[in-house]
Amino acid sequence: MNESGFYITTPIYYVNAEPHLGHAYTTVVADVQARFHRLIGDETFFLTGTDEHGDKIVQAAERNGETPKEYVDRISNMFRNTWPLLHVQPDRFIRTTDSQHVRTVQRILNTVHEKGDIEFREYEGLYCYGCERFLIERELVDGKCPDHKTEPVPLKEKNYFFLMSRYQDWLIDHIKKNPDFITPERYRNEVLSFLKDPLEDLCISRPVKRLSWGIPLPFDENFVTYVWFDALINYLTGVDFPDGDLFRRFWPFVEHVIAKDILKPHAIYWPCMLKSAGIEPYRRLHVHGYWKMKDEKMSKSLGNVIRPAWLVEQFGADAVRYCLMREMNFGLDAGFSEATFTTRINADLANDLGNLFSRTNTMLHKYRNGVIPKDSGVHGPHRELEQQAETLVREYMERMSDFEMHLALANVWRELNRANKVIDSMAPWELAKDPEKAELLDSLLYVLLEFLRLVGVMLSPVIPEASSRMISALGRDPVQEMSSDGLEWGRLLPGDATVRIPSLFPRIERENKEKRKRKQAKKTGEKNKVEEKKQESNGVITIDDVFKVDLRVAEIKEAEAHPNADRLLKLRVAAPEERTIVAGIAQYYKPEEIIGKKVIVVVNLKPAKLRGVVSEGMLLAAKDGDTLRLVTVDGDITPGAKVS
Ligand code: MSP
Repeated sequence: MNESGFYITTPIYYVNAEPHLGHAYTTVVADVQARFHRLIGDETFFLTGTDEHGDKIVQAAERNGETPKEYVDRISNMFRNTWPLLHVQPDRFIRTTDSQHVRTVQRILNTVHEKGDIEFREYEGLYCYGCERFLIERELVDGKCPDHKTEPVPLKEKNYFFLMSRYQDWLIDHIKKNPDFITPERYRNEVLSFLKDPLEDLCISRPVKRLSWGIPLPFDENFVTYVWFDALINYLTGVDFPDGDLFRRFWPFVEHVIAKDILKPHAIYWPCMLKSAGIEPYRRLHVHGYWKMKDEKMSKSLGNVIRPAWLVEQFGADAVRYCLMREMNFGLDAGFSEATFTTRINADLANDLGNLFSRTNTMLHKYRNGVIPKDSGVHGPHRELEQQAETLVREYMERMSDFEMHLALANVWRELNRANKVIDSMAPWELAKDPEKAELLDSLLYVLLEFLRLVGVMLSPVIPEASSRMISALGRDPVQEMSSDGLEWGRLLPGDATVRIPSLFPRIERENKEKRKRKQAKKTGEKNKVEEKKQESNGVITIDDVFKVDLRVAEIKEAEAHPNADRLLKLRVAAPEERTIVAGIAQYYKPEEIIGKKVIVVVNLKPAKLRGVVSEGMLLAAKDGDTLRLVTVDGDITPGAKVS
């Protein structure tokens, strides 16, 4: 058996809705992971596709005046055609209506049936059409399905049941023995806690008279297969179970990515189904949170979806991939807003990465005609970049392997900031003036270029196109560099020519809010009103207005990252009594950098909860484009002193 394989899957998406940002996120995660594993030399297979059977699909087809077949073909194609827009490259796109899949499902059903794990029983229960399954009492919230907010309907019918309860003890034991089986840990705990109560057997059939759009049970033509039993098996069909070469090569390495909405089928039904069919369970199940719009899950039923094609038009594919990976802490929910993506792209991609690349490249062309110089190893602050490279690569490998893409990226950006600071402190433009500093300048340029090559390789799973451009501009072949060798330091060859390229990530210009308001007002014929109001106040306030704000000097005693938001810091300040303040400055200050600073704080602001932490005040800071500096006092003064 090949020891280093990787088989990654996304859920197969229902074709009752068009692809949105939520689907795009999971699919990009899988693509990033597939690219990462290819980079480190693993034989890799990446599967995605569409789930096309069941009540929901029939209803959606009816609403659109199409036959189920016409409808599923159309929407499935929408998914298939969306992924290339995001530079997502699956190895196979599977559909549950494929005849191969139908055969695989029937084969598994026969195996499980022959084993005696399927029973025909009468069942009376509460059926949720949204979930396409019977719900049990304790799943209901106020008598309703918590996901669909509808009351399930009482239903009594004879059906086939998979005797899942037989595998409960085995499953608990398996989860306990394999701590990585379900990650992050909170979801593992959730499953273990669910398994404390007895498992119910799973109803796996639907009578044909009620629903015919499904896979017929091989042992009773009056029934079709329950959509989840059918859908999960796609992961086997996708690698040609039972006797395909792909199955032999990749099944031992299978890892699934899903969001928390479908934890139960993946963490409970699926391992039990596999166990019953005599197939090894998957290696790891990776569960992420929801993308939300204004605190609500993004979903078609809530009508608050963002289309992936729109995102790509606005920001470009690589930038969207970057934001998706950087803005969501894998496992937790994240909020989407155009403003957050814009700020992220401008600060991280246009400024930190793009500027570093273009300023280094420009200096190389200005001072060394674009030819890679030799690094004599001469001492200087730039050596730290080289010294940190090994740690960075190690951290990157660990974070990526653990599906902590946001942290892997944060680490790379820590070093990008270091590189930008090295340039500022060594001032190569000054070195260039002094012939005696030629060796130091050569060495600095080499280290910067090599660092950028390494960063290009590390970022290639996330921003593949920009990475290729970076690496080609540095005179290397991206295909060769995107390998584990590419993660070694010192591959650029002195004497090789580089190429100047346009900026990697152009800044996204957003109209400021005021402008936008005026535009809007103009559109609705309200421009005059806005102007009148402006004339009236003309931005002037009275002294009373000024005194309403109680400003104090405060000393920052403690600072730490906010537990639920990357952009926020949680501070304890003394003014002079201690209070907690949550400030949106994580992008600009590291916690350890600001402890001890004396800053100005609004102390009479109504407390507000910011992502779960109560903030009792507000810091003053000056912002200019992407730079932000805290307002501090000029000299020593007691905390609590009034600012007037
Ligand atoms: N067809 C089933 C899956 C069967 S897999 C054997 C299904 N389909 S779905 O179209 O509803 O897709 C659900 C998945 O889409 C989630 O698990 C997640 O991967 C993705 N997302 C849909 N909305 C999402 C968010 N708002 N946020 C994050 N991911 C989301 O369930």
